[in-house]
Amino acid sequence: MASTDGAPHTADAVGAPPAVEQVKQAAKEQQIDPYNVSGGVDENGNVTAIDYEALRERFNTPALTQEHLDRFERVTGKPPHRLMRRKLFFSHRDFDKILDYYEKYGFFLLYTGRGPSSGSMHLGHAVPFLFTKELQDIFDVPLVVMLTDDEKFLYTRNKNQGKITKGAALGDFIEYAHQNCKDIIALGFDLKKTFIYTDYEYMGGHFYQNITEFEALLTNNQIRGAMGFDGSTNIGLNAYAAKQCVAAFASSYPTLFGAGDFRAPTYEEPRPRKHIAAIPTLIPCAIDQEPYFRLLRENCDRMEFPAPKTALILSKFLTALQGSGGKMSASDPNSAIFMSDTSKQIEKKINRFAFSGGGATKEDHEKYGGNPDVDVAYAYLSYFLESDDELIEIEQSYRKGTLSTGELKKRCIQELQKFVEAFQERRSKVTEEIMREFMTPRKLEFKGNPNATASIEDAVSEKKPEEKQENTSGKLTKGERKALKIAEKKAEKLALREKGPEGEQPKAEES
Ligand code: TYM
Repeated sequence: MASTDGAPHTADAVGAPPAVEQVKQAAKEQQIDPYNVSGGVDENGNVTAIDYEALRERFNTPALTQEHLDRFERVTGKPPHRLMRRKLFFSHRDFDKILDYYEKYGFFLLYTGRGPSSGSMHLGHAVPFLFTKELQDIFDVPLVVMLTDDEKFLYTRNKNQGKITKGAALGDFIEYAHQNCKDIIALGFDLKKTFIYTDYEYMGGHFYQNITEFEALLTNNQIRGAMGFDGSTNIGLNAYAAKQCVAAFASSYPTLFGAGDFRAPTYEEPRPRKHIAAIPTLIPCAIDQEPYFRLLRENCDRMEFPAPKTALILSKFLTALQGSGGKMSASDPNSAIFMSDTSKQIEKKINRFAFSGGGATKEDHEKYGGNPDVDVAYAYLSYFLESDDELIEIEQSYRKGTLSTGELKKRCIQELQKFVEAFQERRSKVTEEIMREFMTPRKLEFKGNPNATASIEDAVSEKKPEEKQENTSGKLTKGERKALKIAEKKAEKLALREKGPEGEQPKAEES
């Protein structure tokens, strides 16, 4: 199947998380990390819904509360996005601190990304970008989007034990990244404030200096613990985490703030500027990416030019069509709705595959009502339907049984078709030239908070004002330290097991 411009996105999708069927056979406890997203399996062999509260506890990430929402509204003068109102973005790290910083200094850096495993993104991938666009509009701040063509190449090669497979040559990932870049642009980002790049194309200069510095701070055990890797994981994938982490540092992109970078032929600025390094960052993403950023936060203040601890705002997963035990997966076309799907395909997928919380028969449904908590069409509406009133009305009438499954699916189909059609209309206008503009490093133009007590110019100017010298990085929280310890212990155990009972014998592939 081809995406709007011919790039493969389904059968050829690579490096994506396991599809729902595979998850069913493999999982016991729920497993969530950047490379695995699956609910648990109960004693009857049924996949259970992802337990986000248990996950929050395990990762030790605080809940996003009504207080945060109120404060957001006070600081920005705008109501929070529906994804925040409905607690689909449900957890965070230091979200309050980023609001403090914005009030005082007037801006911060937004950073998010995409691993281009296929030529078209699916609706789940669009979720953090929709939210990020809203944040960019409201805060009027710069944004960097990292397209990790290198990560997806390494991950796929690792999965295929080094073999070259169809649709997974190195160049294919660069092509997917370009197609995904156009998808992201079509979600409405402002060129003046946005820099999008692929790792293969942009890496070098201060970015690469930050990478090696960060690589020097991470141990194999930490990476294994956080990502579930072992000794047979290729070395590129082990090292990749440093790249995704330092992409959060403003000092990896001096050009965006009007400074020089260390690149041929000018070799300006051999090391990052301190005051650019001090610009804080907020990352919107789903909670699968949190393990990277735990490592990041632990090491921000260990850099030669320290950065404040990166703030995070974390979402739940837009569920697979089959239900809430997995997320949409690019490797299983029937689990996901792609941004390149036609209206007919959307209708067919929802009608045929979307798990229903309705009664077994029409009579049962009318008598006992339906269950919106497990209903996929209802879940999708909660992400894409703007009106809170209508959503509540749908929820209540479905519970009562006055709204049928067919009617609920119909409403969901209408809303998704509207969203995807409007997206495709904008996507068809994103030319190669527009894409190149977004991908050109240049000074970004943003205004930030007009009521800030210190100006953006102060914050990024050559002379760093006194007040910027305060170290906002602080120490790890108790929860973060605990989560790290657990992950490291796990990795150490794994390493010991690999060495065998005597703790000496390396595995065959390591010798
Ligand atoms: P990737 O391509 O797996 O996912 C891209 C973004 O989409 C989020 N996401 C989802 N959100 C809601 N529902 C879903 N079903 C769903 N599936 C994926 C992911 O959390 C992510 O935010 N390694 C990263 C690329 C990356 C990145 C980053 C992501 C590099 N730097 C900074 C976030 C922030 C990846 O492969 O994402």
